[in-house]
Amino acid sequence: MTPRTPIFAANWKMNQTLKEVSSFVPKFTEALGRQTTSLEIVIAPAFVHLPAFVNAADGTSIQVGAQNCAPAKSGAFTGEVSAPMLVEIGCQWAIVGHSERRQLFAEDDALVGNRLRAALADGLQVIFCVGETLEERRGGLAEQVVARQLGVLKDVAHPERVAIAYEPVWAIGTGEVATPAQARDMHAFARAKLPSKDMRILYGGSVKPDNAGALLAEPEIDGFLVGGASLDPVGFASVIRNGLASRR
Ligand code: PGA
Repeated sequence: MTPRTPIFAANWKMNQTLKEVSSFVPKFTEALGRQTTSLEIVIAPAFVHLPAFVNAADGTSIQVGAQNCAPAKSGAFTGEVSAPMLVEIGCQWAIVGHSERRQLFAEDDALVGNRLRAALADGLQVIFCVGETLEERRGGLAEQVVARQLGVLKDVAHPERVAIAYEPVWAIGTGEVATPAQARDMHAFARAKLPSKDMRILYGGSVKPDNAGALLAEPEIDGFLVGGASLDPVGFASVIRNGLASRR
């Protein structure tokens, strides 16, 4: 088994001004300081801010991600952005299947699967999001839902370029975080369903500087997908530092 390098990913959603995007990197790298353990950092600004952020991150180890990826290379798909376009401007990652896309924009497993395959076909790495709603958890359906969502990975061509993000919907933006034990149990369940045991599984949902350590102390948790707390460069750096400190 290859060691699973931790990934810390920022999902900025529909936030930040162009000025904030452009000034983030120096503040963040200063707050993060030099890290001796290996790690990957991915930041996903809004589509319109991607070129500016690629430019801002140039010369650093920060990788750039998009928040979605079209299910086709080109064509009549108003409002979509394709994998070749993302690769061309210097994007390395795409987030696919985020619960806000599934819930607010009615993206189902079939569409999300097509987006995933399209992103991988053009060489992108993918953070593929899964997670149950509160209703599903209360109904005892959490594992069933996550297993169904992971089903699209069954015959995916490049599983080594996919990281899973387990994000219980009830923990996203609510301040209610899954306990380390809840996250660990679901990560272990999800890992058993994956095509490769070397795939990384990130936790997402109200990750903050003060809960990052306890979560990352769980060996099943291979990093985070962070929304709200990633908008502040010092806050995101603290999430990473506190998380990594619990591994030493
Ligand atoms: P949150 O969002 O950290 O603000 O809960 C996480 C996500 O939606 O990826």
